[in-house]
Amino acid sequence: MNANELRQKYLDFFKAQGHAVISSASLIPENDPTVLFTTAGMHPLVPFLLGEKHPAGNRLTDAQKCIRTGDIDEVGDRTHHTFFEMMGNWSLGDYFKKEAINFSWQFLTDAAWLGLDKNRLAVSVFQGDADAPYDEEAYQIWEEIFKSNNLPVERIAKLPKKNNWWGPAGVTGPCGPDSEMFYWVGDADKVPASFNDDNDLWVEIWNDVFMQYNKTAEGSFEPLKQTNVDTGLGLERVLAVINGLNDNYQTELFRPIINKIEELSNQRYGVNPETDKAMRIIADHLKAATFIIGDNRGITPSNTDQGYVLRRLIRRALRYGRQLGINQQNITWPAEIANVVSQIYVDVYPEIKNNLTMVSGELTKETEKFSRTLEKGILEFEKLAQGALSGEAAFMLYQSYGFPLEITEELAAEKGIKVDKEGFALELAKHQELSRTASAGKFKGGLADHSEETTKLHTAAHLLLAALRQVLGDHVTQKGSNITSERLRFDFSHTEKMTPEQIAKVEELVNGAIAADLPVTCEELSLEEAKERGAMGVFDSKYGERVKVYTAAPLLADGKPDVKAAYSQEICGGPHVNNTGILGKFKIQKEESSSAGVRRIKAVLGA
Ligand code: ALA
Repeated sequence: MNANELRQKYLDFFKAQGHAVISSASLIPENDPTVLFTTAGMHPLVPFLLGEKHPAGNRLTDAQKCIRTGDIDEVGDRTHHTFFEMMGNWSLGDYFKKEAINFSWQFLTDAAWLGLDKNRLAVSVFQGDADAPYDEEAYQIWEEIFKSNNLPVERIAKLPKKNNWWGPAGVTGPCGPDSEMFYWVGDADKVPASFNDDNDLWVEIWNDVFMQYNKTAEGSFEPLKQTNVDTGLGLERVLAVINGLNDNYQTELFRPIINKIEELSNQRYGVNPETDKAMRIIADHLKAATFIIGDNRGITPSNTDQGYVLRRLIRRALRYGRQLGINQQNITWPAEIANVVSQIYVDVYPEIKNNLTMVSGELTKETEKFSRTLEKGILEFEKLAQGALSGEAAFMLYQSYGFPLEITEELAAEKGIKVDKEGFALELAKHQELSRTASAGKFKGGLADHSEETTKLHTAAHLLLAALRQVLGDHVTQKGSNITSERLRFDFSHTEKMTPEQIAKVEELVNGAIAADLPVTCEELSLEEAKERGAMGVFDSKYGERVKVYTAAPLLADGKPDVKAAYSQEICGGPHVNNTGILGKFKIQKEESSSAGVRRIKAVLGA
């Protein structure tokens, strides 16, 4: 079975169980300053997990593009990835544990679906602790399934929070006990009688999360009014196991990339564990970089936020490329890999192919930049690395030679010396915005903070986009937005710096819409209807699902928005204020370049 068939099978199975198929959201979260990337399928669905009504219903399924950098140290083994696809099914206050577990079991083992060998499966449930009790219900559901299939119940493990609890994605938000499913990839006649978390021949393939709690800012776990199911099946891992492979890099989602690396480096995969690891890291990181740049809200390498993560991924791949012996005169080799990635995903994520010129250009630019200083930096490192490496030295390598901390750490580890990471962080804090945002809670804050202030700024963002289009032209589209409770940051496509007059005009238009006290209404429309009406938004859905459209417009006699007189109409998940009148005074604080062809505005709402 190939990847496209597997993806489709999953969606078809859940469609048959009454789930609406929805499109993958962007890898770059919108209006959520607490996370840099979409890390799980549940991420774009948080408002709905907290009780907002989803326009497609209360049973959903999708394949979601994800980026996780938390496991970066594990990347290089056979099953961990920075970019991966998560298949998911959601119950928004509809079914719960019994149905979720039975759906999973049926999909995995039924001959009509995946037909996996039942004897190779093990599962785990939450054992309970001071915050929440043992998940006896999940255990009993599994016990019944295992017994009726003559499987040993010792393969149902009870494990602590570290293993069997999911969420919240930030500090606060929906979370709960989960139940994980594992597949034995060792010999068929050596399946252990019980599950053992330390044995990596048990590969985790699916996680069913039972969201019953909301973790509060005080750290307590309140029962949620609406209990949900959130699941995540790792497409790359399942593709490997159904094809009898114990290495994801041997599947069609990676093998063409590995082939290309073999060709570029004149080395063979599967010969030497060390070169294999380098090849896997290169394949993983450049695939992730291709997806980050090639996203419809794609971004480019920089020294802050997502751009910095991207830069680290590319540079780490370059360093391993050098180690592997890839010709250093060839600065387009990462772009050649991106081309292979675009071919692998052409049917599912056509944005990669559509944005390939930009992806290749950015990869080549970054390669050129880094290769200019890499050799010199390594020489400098050799000089500095005597005994241990100070924070100042690591920072110097970062600033003068563009060495992300990981590269310095890896070079140091090869020599068996330590790097003063805290010292590095201190130096960075002195010099960089990155640390300001981090200390402001960017990486630790709760998921999408739906406070009144952020909701107001979110509505202001819609008014801003409409005003920019009026003043600058219809070429202006939103390229990203980031909202905290203090300010709005808004990226949009436009090449020139705005003049003071243009800025003043935009402020005047937005403040005019605020003064007009326009009702903001939410309607559920099909994508077609939304498009016909001229709503702004991304229309690249494959499934033609229904969407929410927020309109700021006077109302007609029937209570519907007067679309012809609309100030702004956008496809959006919400939430928004009910009326523009409460926003206060809109002020642009800064207008600057964000990346090629993209400008950035920082704006606030005052009294
Ligand atoms: N949200 C769950 C996970 O990411 C399904 O594992």
